[in-house]
Amino acid sequence: MIGAAPQLLAWYRDHGRSHLPWRQTRDPYSIVVSEFMLQQTQVDRVLPIYEAFIAAFPSFAALAAVDAGDVVRAWRGLGYNSRAVRLHALARTVMETHGGVLPQSRDALLALPGIGPYTAAAVRAFAFECDDAALDTNIRRIVHRVMLGLEYPPLASAQELDAIATDAIPVDRGHDWNSAMMDLGSTVCMARAPKCLLCPLQQSCVASPVDATCLSTLAKAHAKRAPQASLPFERTTRFLRGRIIERLRDEPGLEVMTISALIHDLVTVVPPDRVAEIPHIVDVLVKEGIVRASEHGITLRSS
Ligand code: ADE
Repeated sequence: MIGAAPQLLAWYRDHGRSHLPWRQTRDPYSIVVSEFMLQQTQVDRVLPIYEAFIAAFPSFAALAAVDAGDVVRAWRGLGYNSRAVRLHALARTVMETHGGVLPQSRDALLALPGIGPYTAAAVRAFAFECDDAALDTNIRRIVHRVMLGLEYPPLASAQELDAIATDAIPVDRGHDWNSAMMDLGSTVCMARAPKCLLCPLQQSCVASPVDATCLSTLAKAHAKRAPQASLPFERTTRFLRGRIIERLRDEPGLEVMTISALIHDLVTVVPPDRVAEIPHIVDVLVKEGIVRASEHGITLRSS
């Protein structure tokens, strides 16, 4: 891996997605927004919403100045609205605690709402050009394959893989190294059917060429037992919250809606035995600052 970094970076130059808008900027705010959006949503879906979001809220100051409901509204199409709420809280903390300037240190980043070890490393690499490795399952899979062979059975812990990866980053190339590994993981070194013949790391990869049948047998043998009868999505609180926010977001002209009108609109959408929970979930959304309640009814918060 260490010796193969030049091949990886050359591959990225010719085949990588360096045109992605968040790779063409070092603006910490834009990078944070992109990382929050990309946490659980595919690049193609993020692209148009990211552009519109940055145009609407171009800085931490602009985002902190609006209400959480406005941010949730602009998040439409990405799902997982709690990310929008955390991003908004982060913007307010950056304004109140850091004078509007995103801190660079790992510890200060980790103390911000919505930032865990992965996002802290990604922000440091992409905004500040630090040589941190932003390791998610995709990049750990590549490191395992290249250095140790197929990832089943796992031959190293996540921490060991992280240490190997960090050592592999050529000095001052953290930005492109992370971008290259992300692209390699999604287009070449995929979990199920890797395209080893197209891989810039094939000469130095312990696992190459991966035999897809063997990979699938090993993966099945190591598959975690399915969680016991997990709840269908329609029965989760996340589903109910999503339907309430969606209904309020679609209300033209930000008009106030009564709880009974909201319930009336949602009876055909949510399971009948959960309709009674709607007022409670609305209370929670009010406490979280997403919904505003007045004597006339409720609306998505906006400034
Ligand atoms: N570029 C920067 N961060 C990314 C991510 N999380 N996914 C894909 N491309 C990225």
